Amino acid sequence: MSFRTLHDHGVIARYREFLPVTEATPVISLNEGSTPLIHSPKLSARVGRDCEVFIKYEGLNPTGSFKDRGMTLALSKAVERGAQAVICASTGNTSAAAAAYAARASITCIVLLPAGKIAFGKLAQAFMYGAKVVAIEGNFDDALRLVREIGETEPIAVVNSINPDRLEGQKTASFEIIEELGEAPDVHILPVGNAGNISAYWLGYQEFHALKRSSRMPVMLGFQAAGSAPIFHKRVIEKPETIATAIRIGNPASWDKANAAIAHSGGAVDIVTDEEILAAQVWLASHEGIFVEPASAASIAGLFKSLDPASGRAYDAALFPEGAKIVCTVTGHGLKDPDVAKDKCGGVIPAKAERGEILRLIGA
Ligand code: F0G
Repeated sequence: MSFRTLHDHGVIARYREFLPVTEATPVISLNEGSTPLIHSPKLSARVGRDCEVFIKYEGLNPTGSFKDRGMTLALSKAVERGAQAVICASTGNTSAAAAAYAARASITCIVLLPAGKIAFGKLAQAFMYGAKVVAIEGNFDDALRLVREIGETEPIAVVNSINPDRLEGQKTASFEIIEELGEAPDVHILPVGNAGNISAYWLGYQEFHALKRSSRMPVMLGFQAAGSAPIFHKRVIEKPETIATAIRIGNPASWDKANAAIAHSGGAVDIVTDEEILAAQVWLASHEGIFVEPASAASIAGLFKSLDPASGRAYDAALFPEGAKIVCTVTGHGLKDPDVAKDKCGGVIPAKAERGEILRLIGA
């Protein structure tokens, strides 16, 4: 296999004709995308009525989250325009991706993070990839406001999802799903924070539908954490809180785009509590072998909520058509946020290094 072929696997290589790139665009890639769409027999059985549930496992991207899809494009375009530095605000995953792709492009990366609210794995990534890490006294919304201001006056490219190149890259996840299923799903469920991803998926679904690569478009269902749910409550949340720190956001940048996606698709934005998120995270790991970070589990918690008649849900699962294909995006890898799993790790069985004792302890 030639060197060229080895490096020809990222989302720009796969979907070049649908992306704003030319021959002059340098491709900054880590072979992101082409993530598994995993069929879940257990979730399908819970939904019933011959429905099939698939999990789009975005934690298997190079930096462990869906952000890599947008970042390959954002960094490639920034370098094409001559940028020497990029900046982003982040709850952790955007900063990890920006730092990795900036390292790959040999340019400077500055990340603004809410102090004390970043999962350890993500912080470690930003440091290891060599970013300048600034921890502000404030939340993500404050950090994004500062990044916008800095981007207006300084020669530094903003690589948050207010940069349209990010959404262009992220829409490729919809393309992959359509190609793998041979059709768009009936329902697509995903977590919502800054609301870029739901907007990007909708862009992708619309685009492939217009090109007749699919004959339908899915109902989009977004789930916010109950303590950080501005779209659901239709107002800015000044002090957002949730254990799912990735979606601890009170004033999403792509609010209008997300509302449009929800309205056009006949979907909804609903909320899930931290307890529901953690329960879904453990369920997915222990029943399907898929370990995701808490924010990602919001989509699974959302599916469960849709199935529960007593939940006060905004969207009724009775509306899932018989035989529906349902895709849940899980956005980030569980190893990014090991602290959340710590409580679960207390239950080890101490033993002497002795065969007999071990057999007795495990009840063999
Ligand atoms: N899931 C994870 C794991 C995330 O990191 C994010 C956002 C989302 C879901 C929500 O996606 O913002 O497009 O609605 N993380 C951003 C960050 C804010 O800085 O890493 P969204």
